[in-house]
Amino acid sequence: ELQSHLSQDGQLHVATPIDGSIVAHIKPHNIDDAQSSIRHALDAFEHWKATPPPVRGELIRLFGNILREHKEPLAKLVTLECGKILSEGRGEVQEMIDICDLATGQSRQLFGKTIASERPGHHMRELWHPLGVVGIITAFNFPVAPWAWNFANALICGDPCIWKPSEITPLSALACQALFEKAVVEFRSHGYDAPEYLSQTLIGGPDIGQILVESPDIPLISATGSVAMGKKVAPIVAQRLGKTILELGGNNAMIVTEHADLDMALRAILFSAVGTCGQRCTTLRRLIIHPDVKKQLIERLIPAYESISIGNPLDENFLMGPLIHEKAFEDMNKALDQAQKQGGKILTGGTRLVDKDGIYITPCIIDMQEQTHIVRDETFAPILYVLEYKDFEQALKIHNDVTQGLSSCIFTQNVKQAEAFLSATGSDCGIANVNIGPSGAEIGGAFGGEKDTGGGRESGSDSWRAYMRRQTQTINYSDALPLAQGVSFDTQ
Ligand code: UN1
Repeated sequence: ELQSHLSQDGQLHVATPIDGSIVAHIKPHNIDDAQSSIRHALDAFEHWKATPPPVRGELIRLFGNILREHKEPLAKLVTLECGKILSEGRGEVQEMIDICDLATGQSRQLFGKTIASERPGHHMRELWHPLGVVGIITAFNFPVAPWAWNFANALICGDPCIWKPSEITPLSALACQALFEKAVVEFRSHGYDAPEYLSQTLIGGPDIGQILVESPDIPLISATGSVAMGKKVAPIVAQRLGKTILELGGNNAMIVTEHADLDMALRAILFSAVGTCGQRCTTLRRLIIHPDVKKQLIERLIPAYESISIGNPLDENFLMGPLIHEKAFEDMNKALDQAQKQGGKILTGGTRLVDKDGIYITPCIIDMQEQTHIVRDETFAPILYVLEYKDFEQALKIHNDVTQGLSSCIFTQNVKQAEAFLSATGSDCGIANVNIGPSGAEIGGAFGGEKDTGGGRESGSDSWRAYMRRQTQTINYSDALPLAQGVSFDTQ
C-alpha cells in the first residue's frame, strides 16, 4: 500500500514517488535498538546539560554551515524521496539553515524573568534549565525541516534528541544524521567537548515511535502528522504526565473579499493550493469568496490551474510533482467522489496522467454549495473547495467552522476587514495572514495551530521554552527568615 514498505525479509524498501522505483534497501531498527537509544540519550544528557548554552549554540552554528555546504544534494534527496519540486526541496533545507542561525543566537538568550519579592532582603527569578531527552516524530511531506525546528532548539536548550522520521522518507533523515555527526567532529576539532548520541535517528514503523511515546525517560514528544496520529500519541504521553508538542492536520482557508487585489490572490492561491502537490499541512484547501468577485476569480483560476506543468520534480520545468503513494491517490478519489455526492461540481482537474510511472494528477478545483462533511476533512491532495459567502460575518463563520486550526488568510485591501480577520473574533487559527497565502511560513515565528491541529508551537519566537524546564528561585540575602503571606510560625 505504501511506496516504501517493510517486507517479509524485514528490510525497508525505499521507493521514490517520482516513478515508483526502489532506490534503497535499509535494515530498520528494532525495539531493542529503540530502547538502547533512550539509554544512550540519557547518558548524553548528563554531559550536555552541563555545557554552557552558547557552546551548545556553537555546535548548531557548525551544523548550519554544513547544511549550507550540502544544501543542493540534500534538497535533491528530499525531492527524490517525497516528490516535492526541487525549488521546494531547497526551500525546506533553507528552513533548516535558518533555524540553525536562529537557535545559535537564541543560545545566548535563554532568559527568564526577575521578579519582585514581597519580603525584605529577598529576590526572585526564573531560570530555564534543560528538560531532558526529546523524541521527535516527523511526517513524509516535510522530511527534514520540522525535525530541524525541534532539534536545533532542543539542542541549544541542552536536550539530546531521538528522531523517528516517516518510514517513507528515511534517507533524508539518515543524511541529516550524518551531516550532524560531521558537525560534531568539527566541533571537537575546535577543542569543544560533545558527548556521543546527541542526535539519534531510528528508522522503522509505528512500533518504534511507540517506544519513544511510552518512555518515562522522554519528557517531551514533538510529533508532526495526522490528527488521528496525534489523538493516539497525546493520551499515551499524558498518561505518564509527559509533555507534547503536536503539529497535526490543517484545513486552511483563504477569504477573498470584494476588496481583494485579485492578481495577488490568484498567485497566492496557485502556490498554496497546488504547490507541494497539495501535501503541506499548510496547503490552501478552502476558498471562501465574495459573490462580487467569485466569477471573475474562478474564470482566471481555471486556466491558471490548467497551465501548471506537471512532471518529474527534479526537472525544473515542472511546478508540480507526484502524490506520495497509491493510498494518497485513493483518498483523493474518495474525496472527489464524496464531494460530488455532497453537491460539489468539479471545475477542473482531479485526473491521473496515465503516461507517467508515478502518481501524477491534475490539481483540482471543486465548487461547493456549502461546507459539507468532506470539505471539513483534510485530504492530503491538491483539492481546492470553493465556497461563496454573503456577508463578512458569514465568511468568518464558515472559516472557523472546521475542527482544524492551523493556518489562515484573507485577501483584502480594506483595513477594517483585515483587522477584523486578525481580531479575537476573527480567525481561530495559530497562523493568520493578510494578503499572503496560508503556506510558506518563516521560521522566525512560532509555527503551529489550535483545535485539532494540536496546540503545539515549534520554530521561532519563544518556542524554545518547551524544551526547557522553568525553575522559580527565591533567594534570601537577609539575616531574617520572614514567611510569605505574613504567616508566623515562631516557637516561644
Ligand atoms: C508542514 O507541512 O508540515 O509554512 C510544514 C509552511 C512550511 C512548513 C510546512 N514552512 O508551509
